[in-house]
Amino acid sequence: MTDDLSRAQRDHWQSTYQRNPHMYGYEPSEPAKQVADAFPTGGTVLELGAGHGRDSLHFAQRGFSVHAMDFSPDGLAQLRDRAEQDGLIDRITTTVHDVRTPIPLPDSSVDAVFAHMLLCMALSTEEIHALVAEVRRVLRPGGTFAYTVRHTGDAHYDAGIAHGDDIYEHGGFAVHFFDRTLVNSLAQQWTPPEVHAFEEGGLPRRLWRITQTKPR
Ligand SMILES: C[S@@+](CC[C@H](N)C(=O)[O-])C[C@H]1O[C@@H](n2cnc3c(N)ncnc32)[C@H](O)[C@@H]1O
Repeated sequence: MTDDLSRAQRDHWQSTYQRNPHMYGYEPSEPAKQVADAFPTGGTVLELGAGHGRDSLHFAQRGFSVHAMDFSPDGLAQLRDRAEQDGLIDRITTTVHDVRTPIPLPDSSVDAVFAHMLLCMALSTEEIHALVAEVRRVLRPGGTFAYTVRHTGDAHYDAGIAHGDDIYEHGGFAVHFFDRTLVNSLAQQWTPPEVHAFEEGGLPRRLWRITQTKPR
């Protein structure tokens, strides 16, 4: 991904959270509710692209220790404020981090990784592969990676400003739309991926929830 588009996206997300604090609300997403049941009780969850934390808060409420990362300091500040209010701050760590760089955690240090609509941001196919390799590195053997992405059946696919590599921009937001070939290629050193289709929001966004496990 070009540095210009990446920088523009980070600025766009920052100003979006500044203009619309708590924009996703504080009900957890459907995928977060579903995967929380499959994550090991009391374990550690790394959430990538956590935004203002509707799902990190849910994992903390469910008794997990949560490490929430996002490249928007404003999103994470809103998450910390809410965690303070809800008495959950002791279970949540936040780190400002761009997933185009290595995850700042040791090998095999988390039980589960969750990323809702993060891998389908303005990342090139190469950057997505590097990110999934990093997720595999920080997960303990037997740990689960659950992520969601908008796919090529979404109404915004192949429309708006084309940036190449299946990335299209609408209203300032750039999205990398996934096909099954990409999903399968990201699971090569994992257990076979389980893929569930679902929808979210008014458009609606058409998404897949993908779950794959790091072999023991
Ligand atoms: C569609 S939002 C989803 C937010 C959150 N997962 C939720 O569902 O409430 C995508 C999030 O990814 C973050 N993001 C986008 N590109 C990123 C990158 N390269 N590194 C880290 N975070 C990124 C944005 O700041 C935003 O919070």
